[in-house]
Amino acid sequence: MELLHPGKQKRVLPDELYEKLDRFIDDLNIDLKDPRKKGHLIQVLHGAQQIFGYLPREVQEHVANRLAIHHAEVSGVVSFYNFFTTTPKGEFTISVCMGTACYVKGADKVLEQFERILGIRAGEVTEDQKFSIDSLRCVGACSLAPVVMINDKVYGRVAPQDVEKIIEDCLVREEA
Ligand code: FES
Repeated sequence: MELLHPGKQKRVLPDELYEKLDRFIDDLNIDLKDPRKKGHLIQVLHGAQQIFGYLPREVQEHVANRLAIHHAEVSGVVSFYNFFTTTPKGEFTISVCMGTACYVKGADKVLEQFERILGIRAGEVTEDQKFSIDSLRCVGACSLAPVVMINDKVYGRVAPQDVEKIIEDCLVREEA
């Protein structure tokens, strides 16, 4: 089995964060010879996501190397559970619901407007790390369609012309 080593892909994330992750993994006292070590994988990935904010390939490779497992096993777990993310998140995570009820009421136009104003596409984060955009499946608030969530706050019946004001509200909230 080929193991991927940290030096294999050029790292761009800060060494301090990798040191923090290493300390977190060390504290778990995982016996690498124990066949049940994979049971720790989710716990390690949660820790890694808390430290880095997301789980890009270089972090997944580091985790694979530390647990002496193949990267494919790590990426399989990351893609299976939707609480893991491989893209960075902004301080304000904008999630536009693209479920059927929202879509038929124009959620795609709302999403396009967020993308246009912020200059990023869904799955990306702004350069200042303030905003990221994602699309979601139904969030269970169909009567309010189209729905946008920004962190934990829900915005209902959002029209493209509301988007600029919603972004401004976030910036005001940040300053408050
Ligand atoms: S489809 Fe958007 S909340 Fe249900």
